[in-house]
Parts: sequence; structure tokens; C-alpha cells
Amino acid sequence: MSGVILSPQHPLSAGLTSDSRLVRAYRGERADTTPVWFMRQAGRSLPEYRDLRVGTRMLDACLDPAMASEITLQPVRRHGVDAGIFFSDIVVPLRLVGVDVEIQPGRGPVFTKGYADAAAVAELTAIDPARLDEASAPIAEAVALTIAELNRTPEAASTGGNAATPLIGFAGAPFTLAAYLAEGGPSKDHLAARTLMHADPGAWRALMEWTAELTGRFLRTQIVAGASAAQLFDSWAGALSLADYEAHVAPASARALSFVHDLEFETADGSGATRPVPVVHFGVGTGELLGAMKEVGVDVVGVDYRVPLDVAAERVGAGVPLQGNLDPALLAAPWPVLEAAVREVLAKGTVAPAHVFNLGHGVPPETDPTVLTRVVELVHEAGAS
Ligand code: CP3
Repeated sequence: MSGVILSPQHPLSAGLTSDSRLVRAYRGERADTTPVWFMRQAGRSLPEYRDLRVGTRMLDACLDPAMASEITLQPVRRHGVDAGIFFSDIVVPLRLVGVDVEIQPGRGPVFTKGYADAAAVAELTAIDPARLDEASAPIAEAVALTIAELNRTPEAASTGGNAATPLIGFAGAPFTLAAYLAEGGPSKDHLAARTLMHADPGAWRALMEWTAELTGRFLRTQIVAGASAAQLFDSWAGALSLADYEAHVAPASARALSFVHDLEFETADGSGATRPVPVVHFGVGTGELLGAMKEVGVDVVGVDYRVPLDVAAERVGAGVPLQGNLDPALLAAPWPVLEAAVREVLAKGTVAPAHVFNLGHGVPPETDPTVLTRVVELVHEAGAS
């Protein structure tokens, strides 16, 4: 595929984030120390987040550029993490093209109906996913506001010689979105999606292809607007057998990523050399799928807390940078227990060519934020040796 070059003002092209700890690790290089960020770092564990969100519904907050940007920046300022993760949600692109979805506190995304048969899927796929491009102005604006701030974050000078902290864009993988769509809301086993996959493979394929294009466009918008890396969340792929994943899901994830694979940046050294934008792939309970998740076309694999990083390294194959994987439950354990667990994750991570420290899933809402700051300090100190 012939590449599309990101603008010279993009933080990667401008040389602001292209050699940051995070971006270096995502391309397999070890920097001065191990970079760290936390899934769900922007959100309910922070009192400043809860204050700002009073009276605003979740998806309205995501579509308010000033608010989304401020929430994205809060954990960067507070914890000194090596990346911001864009404050949004995997269902935002669905809302933007007119699908009726709300996020219920304590529950998750809820639709007015389930899309679990051919007729319902046909209704959904009648919407042209390209409509997202006109509708995503609030996303592009929120990203632009965020990187303008990140480009002048004082603590950014510490991120391994580069001037700015990178922003990570994200999207939901087609299966995880389809798991909510088919059910009409959250579920434990994602039965409706797994049934549709086999009961009506044609409708399933249509649903997955449509979702892939929509979510791929959402990711592309964030990168073009200034994100320096991207993470595809297939949170619920762990509900699938390897055979079902490979046959009915992986092709759609690859299709979603095809919407960003052509994006490249020119290195700031004037050589005219180009590099791709790094992409991470993460799911929960995906120990059996790690190899297949690498193969959909990503640079980095995110590992949940069930599989130690040295075992994960064997499963994804040599040369693949890993991200993860402290059990979030340990954030509430006494500090000596937590400290030992952090050091253990760092030690196992040395097996991979590069390691980005993270949790094995999102930050629990009741987490004491001062503990997260302390973990960042420990990772930076211990990861340097
Ligand atoms: O800090 C970050 O990681 C960035 C923001 C982010 C949110 N959602 C904000 C959010 C990201 C990356 C997501 C992705 C997302 N959303 C995923 C994939 C990641 C994962 O956790 O596996 C999934 C499965 C969703 C769907 C979703 N949205 C769920 C399951 C929930 C939780 C519902 C609840 O209240 O327990 C949401 C809501 C949501 N998304 C919140 C936040 C901060 C909580 C809403 C609130 O604060 O009121």
C-alpha cells in the first residue's frame, strides 16, 4: 500500500514524540527506562475527573472537546505517565453515525435493541460508515487540543530525550463492538454474538465488515489529528476459541487496521525516511489467542494478567514488544506486595525486545490515585537498571 504521509506538524513528524520512551519501545527499542501508562488511567479513579463529570453523561463528555481533552490530560499531569490515552469510548463512533447508544454507569454501553439477526444487521449496515468522517469533528478537535497541551507539558522533557508526551488513540475491535451490538448491551459470555457467528455467517460477516470500517475510520481520525500510536481493544475476544477467532474475527480486525496501516511519518532527521505509526492489540483472557492477535497486523501485543510476560513472549514469537501486565487487583494490596509484583512484571518483561509497563486490564474505579503515581515512580526507577 502506498503510504499517506502525516502532516509536518504531527508530533511524530515534528520529532516531538518519535523518539519518546513509548514510541521507541513500540518499535522494539529500549530507552533510558521502561515507559508506563495505565489502561483506564483517564477516569473514575481521579477525584478531579469525578468533579468535572458531575452533571454530564459519559458520551456527552466524550463529545465535548474541551472536556475530553482535559480528562485525557489529568492523569498525565498527576502521575507523570509516558503517554496520554485519549478519553473517549469504543461506542463513540456508533453514536456519531446515529446509532442509539448510551453508557449506563456501572453497566456499560446499552442500545435500544440488540442487533442479533439478519434484519437488524441490515438496518445497521444501511448506514454508510464513511459518514463518520464528517461527524468526527469533535474527536479531531479534542485530539488537537490535547496534543497542543502535551507538546508543552513541562515533565515531558523527561520522556527520553523527546520534547512531548505522546497521545495514544484507540478503538474497539469489531468483535468487542459486535459483542455489545448483538446483545444490545453488556453480557458475560457474549452469547448473542457467538450464536450469530454460526447461525447466520453471512449476517455476521456483514456486521463485522461494517463495524471494522467504522472503528477503523475512528482510529484514523485520531492519528491524523495527532495521536502518536494506536491501540485496538478486543477486550472480549477471550470468549472465543482460537478456531472461531481465526475464521470469524481476525479478518475483520485486520480490515479495521487497514484504515491506519497506510499512515506514515517522515523522520525529522531530513533523510526522507518514513516510519509507520505503531499499533498495539489488547484483549482480556486472550492467552490462547496471543499469536493470532499479533498476526492481524500489529506491532505490539498487550497482555492481560493471566499470562506471565515471558510465556506471552514465546506465544507471540521473537522480536515482538509487549505491553502489560500487572494484575489490577494488586493496586489495593499493601505496598510491599505491590512493589514485589511490579518488580516481577519488569523482570519478566526483559524477555521481550522492549516492554511498556501497564496493567493487565483497566484501573479499578476505587483505586487510590497516589498508589498509581508511586507505581510510575517505581517503574521508572527500577526499569532503568
Ligand atoms: O483511560 C482510558 O483508558 C481512556 C478512556 C477509555 C474509556 N473507555 C473511558 C470510559 C477507554 C480506552 C475505553 C474503552 C472501552 N470502553 C473498552 C475497552 C477497554 C476495556 O476496558 O476493556 C470497553 C470494553 C468499553 C465499553 C465500556 N465503556 C464499559 C465496559 C464501561 C464501564 C461501565 C461502568 O461504568 O462500569 C464504559 C464506560 C466508560 N468508558 C467509563 C470511562 C471512564 C466509565 C464511565 C463513567 O466514568 O461514568
